[in-house]
This record gives sequence, C-alpha cells and structure tokens, in this order.
Amino acid sequence: MAYAITQTCCTDASCVAACPVNCIHPTPGEPDFGTTESLYIDPRACIDCGACADACPVEAIFPVDRLFGADAAHAELNRQYFAGTGGGGDWDAPRFPRSLPAELSAPRIAVVGTGPAAGYAVQHLLRCTDAEITLIDRVPVPGGLVRYGVAPDHGATKGIGRSFANAFRHARVRMHLNVEVGRDVTHEELAAHHHAVLYAVGASGHRELGVPGEQLVGSLPATEFVGWCNARPDVPAARVDLSGERAVVVGTGNVALDVARLLLTDPEELAGTDIAEHALEALRASKIREVVLLGRRGPAEAAYTRPEFLDLRHRAGIDVVVDEHGGAAGDIAAAAPGSTAGLLQDVPVREVDWALPPPAGRRLVLRFRSEPAEVLGDQQVRAVRTAGGAEIPAGLLVRSIGSRGVPVPGVPFDAERGVIPNERGRVAPGTYVVGWAKRGATGGIGANRACAAETVDALLDDVEARRLPEPAGGDKEFARLVRTRVPDALGRREAEAIDRAEQQRGQRAGRPRVKFATVPELLRAAKRVRR
Ligand SMILES: Cc1cc2nc3c(=O)[nH]c(=O)nc-3n(C[C@H](O)[C@H](O)[C@H](O)COP(=O)(O)OP(=O)(O)OC[C@H]3O[C@@H](n4cnc5c(N)ncnc54)[C@H](O)[C@@H]3O)c2cc1C
Ligand SMILES: NC(=O)c1ccc[n+]([C@@H]2O[C@H](COP(=O)([O-])OP(=O)(O)OC[C@H]3O[C@@H](n4cnc5c(N)ncnc54)[C@H](OP(=O)(O)O)[C@@H]3O)[C@@H](O)[C@H]2O)c1
Ligand code: SF4
Ligand code: SF4
Repeated sequence: MAYAITQTCCTDASCVAACPVNCIHPTPGEPDFGTTESLYIDPRACIDCGACADACPVEAIFPVDRLFGADAAHAELNRQYFAGTGGGGDWDAPRFPRSLPAELSAPRIAVVGTGPAAGYAVQHLLRCTDAEITLIDRVPVPGGLVRYGVAPDHGATKGIGRSFANAFRHARVRMHLNVEVGRDVTHEELAAHHHAVLYAVGASGHRELGVPGEQLVGSLPATEFVGWCNARPDVPAARVDLSGERAVVVGTGNVALDVARLLLTDPEELAGTDIAEHALEALRASKIREVVLLGRRGPAEAAYTRPEFLDLRHRAGIDVVVDEHGGAAGDIAAAAPGSTAGLLQDVPVREVDWALPPPAGRRLVLRFRSEPAEVLGDQQVRAVRTAGGAEIPAGLLVRSIGSRGVPVPGVPFDAERGVIPNERGRVAPGTYVVGWAKRGATGGIGANRACAAETVDALLDDVEARRLPEPAGGDKEFARLVRTRVPDALGRREAEAIDRAEQQRGQRAGRPRVKFATVPELLRAAKRVRR
C-alpha cells in the first residue's frame, strides 16, 4: 500500500519537503516541475507515514486503498509516472529562505491583488524580510480566482485560500479592499508611499473568437460563467440563460471542463457547495441536457489535464462520448495508454446527428478538429456553425479560449501578450509583477509559488543594491489617502466580518457558506464591525 496524489493537486510542492523518503516528484528542482499537471508519489518508495497528506493544503493526498471510482485511476497515474525508473531518489540540496542583511531597514511594499500570486508573494516576503506590506484589491473580499474562479464543486482546492488568509492576517500586513489601482489611487501615489509596488493583478480580460455573432445574447466568456456560479459581484444574477437543451463550450482547457461539469452535474450535488444562490436556482430549473466541447485541434492536443478529465469522466449521471469527426476514433485508438488521447480509449466514439435533439439524460460530447466560424441567431444564440460547415443548435455559447491581462494605468503593458513586461518579475526597480499578470493566463494555483519566489528575489536584489529610493509618504498617509478617495474601503476586520457572516448563512442552510453576490450586500455585512 502507498499514498497517491489525486485530482485537486495544484502543484505547489508543499508535500515534497514533508516526505521523509523523498518519493514525491517532480520536485521544484527537477526539470518537468514547471510543466507537470500534478505531483506524483512513487508507490515503491512510499513508507505510508501520511506526513504529505497532512502538509497538503488542498486535501489531494490519500492512501491508495481509500481511492474508489475516478480517484482509483489517480493511483495508476502516480504509478505510471515512475514506470521505468529505479525507484526512490536523492534529496535535493537543502535550500534556506533568503534573508535581507540586518543593517537594511524594513522596506514598505504595496501588493496589488489578493489572489494566489499575491498570497505566495506575501508569504515569501513575510518569511524572508521584515517588510511592512500594504495589500490592495478592487473587490471587497480577498482571494482573487480562488474565490471567484475555482469551481464551487472544487471545495478542497478553495481550501488553499485559508493558507493565504493566514498570511494576510499577519501583523505586518494591512489591507485596503474595494480599492482599484488606476481608478481610486494611481500607480504614482502607491510608489510615493512605498519602496516597491508589486502587481499581482491576474488576467481579468478574455480572448475573443473574432467570428460573427460572438456578441449575441446567450454567448459569454467562460470566466463570466464561472464568476456567475461563484457570486462575483460584477456578473448579474440574470446573466446566464439555461432555457435551451444544448450548450456549446469552445475550448478544451480545464476551465472548459469546469463549465461543462457545472452545467451537467445534478444541482442537488452542487447544493452542498458554496455555489451562488442565483446559480443554484437557475441550474435547478435548467433545461440543458447536453454540452458540446469544441476543440480546434485533435484529441492528443486537448488542453485539459488528465486529473480534471478523469474527475468529469467518472461523475455519476454524466455520459461522455466523442463525436466521430476528423479522424478522432483512429487518433484515440493509436494513442499511448494514459496519454491525453489515450484517456479517451474507454469513451464511446460515435457520429452525432446534430439535427436530432439531445438524448435523454445528461451528456458531454467532445468534438475535436472543430472551430466556430459563426454564431447564428437574430438576437439570441440559436446555433454554432463550425468552419467545416456543421450547424450545432444551442441556446448557450460559452467561450472558454483563455484569459488575458488588462492594462493598469501608469504601468507598462505588452498588448500583444496581455502581460506587464518584465524580467524575472522586475518591471523597473521599484515596480514588480507576479502571477498571471507576469506570465500570461497559464498554470494552476501552485505555479504561482515559484513565480512569486522569483519576483521577490528580484525585488530583494534591488533592496540589497539600494536601488529603491526612500518614499516621500508613509503608511498612515497612504491609509488617509485611501479613506478620502474610497469612503467604503474595507480593511481586514471588515473582510473577516464578511467571511463570518457568509459562513453563518451557510450554517443555517447546511452549506459551507452562502456568499453575498453584490457589492452593497458585501458592504452591509462588513459595516457590522465598523466603528
Ligand atoms: C475559471 C478558473 C478556474 C480555475 N480553477 C483552478 C483550479 O481548480 N485549480 C488550480 O490549480 N488553478 C485554477 N485556476 C488557475 C488559478 O486560478 C490561477 O493560476 C491563479 O488564480 C492566478 O493567480 P493571480 O493571483 O495571478 O490572479 P488572480 O487570482 O486573478 O488575482 C488577481 C487579483 O487582482 C485584483 N486586481 C486586478 N486588477 C486590480 C486593480 N487594478 N486594482 C486592485 N486590484 C486588482 C483582482 O480583483 C484579483 O483579486 C483557475 C482559473 C480560472 C480562470
Ligand atoms: N487544475 C484545475 O482544476 C484548473 C481549473 C481551471 C484552470 N486551470 C488552469 O488555468 C489555466 C487557464 O485555463 P483555460 O482553460 O482558461 O486555458 P487553456 O488551458 O489555455 O485552454 C484554452 C483552450 O482554448 C483554445 N483556444 C484558444 N484560442 C482559440 C480560438 N481562437 N478558437 C478556438 N479555440 C481556442 C485552446 O486551444 P489550443 O490548445 O489549440 O490553443 C485551448 O483548448 C490553465 O493552465 C489551466 O490548467 C486549472
Ligand atoms: S505517505 Fe509518507 S512516505 Fe509516502 S509519500 Fe507521503 S510523506 Fe512520503
Ligand atoms: S497540492 Fe501541493 S501539497 Fe498537495 S499534493 Fe499537490 S503538490 Fe503536494
């Protein structure tokens, strides 16, 4: 028997150092760490001590004999990763957190954003320095995509938010929420009150398909759909219309799978999560029975990760089929077992007749080598016509083709790549970037950990080289400026009040939390602790 890593792994490597026999790989020092979709446990070397399971922030690690259904397949993925290797491994050279020389005074650092990139950067800064940190976010609640992106039925993944919240609660961290940089305060004002400004603003825009009809009613970007499920305050409760029988989702990334899964899962299963109340009600009344995932390339190039696909593949009550189109059956049959396309070998492949209504039950159809050429309809989406000429009737179109960054006024921006241009996270001495705003919208939560370490390293190089000028204003002046500009700005106590109020609502409803879905509701909950 051994332990195995399962679907929720976000590759943050917290387990690696916990393992006394170094059987969790790839480690951050190994070449495929940056690209791996999960970490894996070598079943031949594992001594069953359970230390890794305790260290994992997202409850991804279980003894193999407690894995059933979809999770049992993860034990096999763990085993496969080590097939052909000798087993066991050597310890990496020990690494100690960097620290600043004692003669340097503590820097004051503004971090813009409160998502995973900010979370890891703050943890790293607190560990390596005596820095005083000012956290700023434009929404009234911290968390970024952990709160407003990660699907509500991925509750264990959302658990990583607790570890960031602990860092944000540190005595050297001050929070200004409901404050947008570029609108309420400028970059120059931040720079005038801090030694360094670190942007962790993510990628809140989305890519466009660029086809006619894309903006019809009933067509929306995936991040908006997931935001709607997560009670994101800027997505109206009535934004999503589920009155048609079929939805088309463009793209085959993990976000596309999230959308498909949420649309097809029995709403009573979702009722046990923190899904927005309006989304739960709409899904209970939903007529959607079929979701078609359109991939522009073949089954081997599907962008989803294997753990996420296995989770959907084995969901009770959801049939999964591949549409026999563009040679899909041949590609799948020829694929290596366990590869992205090989995972489809036990999925039925059949020709789908789009003239017929979806069959009874709930079904996910994967259609490869298909790109939308036009969205048909007068005002509302009626069908999607592919470049190959197929017409797929649908009442909802979710464009899940990736996110992209948006500029922050006063900060350089590479419009082509949708990122803040940087070298190892340094934009210029005094200005830094981390996370999706630095690398583009790719990588799970854990990928932001090494990214944050690199950026903080660049920042510390500049502190050590005394390249950062002394700011004119201090912490108190900045707090005063914020209060003048945004009377409704919230601090840590108010954020904690919102958290408590949501959890209390959840307790009453038998759910983990019931989120407030609008800014006025959030502010009302926050004001209960205001002086
Ligand atoms: C729908 C979706 C689901 C996902 N699910 C998973 C998952 O299950 N597991 C996983 O490992 N990864 C998942 N990911 C990936 C993961 O969410 C990202 O890797 C991660 O959130 C990127 O972190 P970030 O801090 O760079 O950006 P974000 O999390 O987007 O945080 C950016 C923060 O900056 C704030 N901000 C932006 N502009 C400003 C401004 N001008 N002023 C003030 N504040 C500002 C925003 O409000 C936000 O809080 C998902 C991604 C998406 C889109
Ligand atoms: N672990 C998790 O549970 C989880 C959940 C959600 C997100 N995430 C991570 O978050 C990151 C972002 O995920 P994502 O799904 O938004 O993006 P993604 O993984 O980059 O997938 C984007 C998809 O859109 C397709 N696409 C792009 N442009 C297109 C176009 N013009 N027409 C048709 N298709 C187009 C891509 O196809 P091509 O491949 O052909 O370009 C790809 O299938 C990923 O790293 C993902 O793993 C992780
Ligand atoms: S159970 Fe113990 S030995 Fe096995 S992977 Fe986890 S920490 Fe390592
Ligand atoms: S989420 Fe982190 S701690 Fe958990 S299994 Fe994955 S790498 Fe290990």
